[in-house]
Amino acid sequence: MAKPVMCIVLTQIVLVALFHLCMSSQTKECTSTSSLSPQFYDNSCPKAQAIVQSFVAKAHSNDPRMAASLLRLHFHDCFGCDGSLLLDNSGTIESEKRAVTNVDSARGFEVIDDIKSALEDECPQTVSCADILALVARDTTVITGGPSWEVYLGRRDAREASLIASNNNIPVVSSTFETIVTKFNDQGLGLIDLVALLGGHTIGNSRCKSFRKRLYNHSGNSDRDQTLNQNYASMLQQGCPISGDDQNLFALDYMTPNKFDNYYFKNLMTFKGLLSSDEILYTKSRDSMELVKLYGANEELFFEQYAKSMVKMGNISPLTGRNGEIRRICRRVNH
Ligand code: HEM
Ligand SMILES: *[C@@H]1O[C@H](CO)[C@@H](O)[C@H](O)[C@H]1NC(C)=O
Repeated sequence: MAKPVMCIVLTQIVLVALFHLCMSSQTKECTSTSSLSPQFYDNSCPKAQAIVQSFVAKAHSNDPRMAASLLRLHFHDCFGCDGSLLLDNSGTIESEKRAVTNVDSARGFEVIDDIKSALEDECPQTVSCADILALVARDTTVITGGPSWEVYLGRRDAREASLIASNNNIPVVSSTFETIVTKFNDQGLGLIDLVALLGGHTIGNSRCKSFRKRLYNHSGNSDRDQTLNQNYASMLQQGCPISGDDQNLFALDYMTPNKFDNYYFKNLMTFKGLLSSDEILYTKSRDSMELVKLYGANEELFFEQYAKSMVKMGNISPLTGRNGEIRRICRRVNH
């Protein structure tokens, strides 16, 4: 048999084998992880990771909250990790920055612009905006005291945004436990991933308006959420009145607000989770309650699972190969 033919036959056997592996594993991982790799920029932009890290360090020292804000951007981009979150309104693009979960609360876009501009100087049109968000999510976790992991790279940037998909796919603070689980499952993330990833709320802030209902009108009868520690609730009321002061900020983890640790879980166990979507991990399901207890008791285990689940979240339907593009400016598509 001639060599080229032999080659094609072999390739086909390998492809069929891979396909069957994918079908039997029943996760989305198979179609996406394989195309990304930690070494993606080793030759084309060897300094990329160091440049991103130095900007994260600078942003964090200027404003300790910025680490949290930047981490959150990766999550909001990632139900489809394609940089679409970063696009501004223009032409046919309806920016995802207007989605319920982003408007008035997603921040840090200027830091991403600065990183992108430094990377364009170093290696033009090489490093995608989606990959910048993935690297930044790791670096912000590390700089606040959390675990590290190898970031898989090679995502390309979307040429469109979807405000509708953002609104549909990302759970909101008032979502029920079942809805949150379903929305994560839809992206190939299970309960173990969900509980570990929500541990990201160990840093950063929420506005009063995101949790006010728990304080004053939880079920529509001018009542307080009974799964909220009463002293903690009274303290929150000081800065979060029944009306007004919508933008007042509160730590998601009141114990160690700027440190990436497992206090988020310890707080849930004493009914001092800030958001309704946080506390229900402890109160609505035995399985998730057990995971909260596990991570609350064992920080190492939390860190290990968080790192794994971040890699998994980062692999949600990336654009690769010839799809999408490498944007020059993260806020708009190339022309
Ligand atoms: C069920 C899923 C989730 C819901 C409902 C949710 C909801 C929220 C809300 C309401 C805020 C406060 C927004 C405001 O009022 O300003 C917030 C902040 C934040 N979220 Fe989430 N979140 C979820 C999952 C995640 C995940 C998976 C991560 C990261 C791994 C994450 C990271 C953060 C961070 C770091 C902040 C603080 C941002 C800052 O201080 O600027 N969240 N989230
Ligand atoms: C409490 O919630 C109910 C139902 O959503 C609403 O009709 C009522 O106006 C709310 N009360 C206050 C004080 O916000």
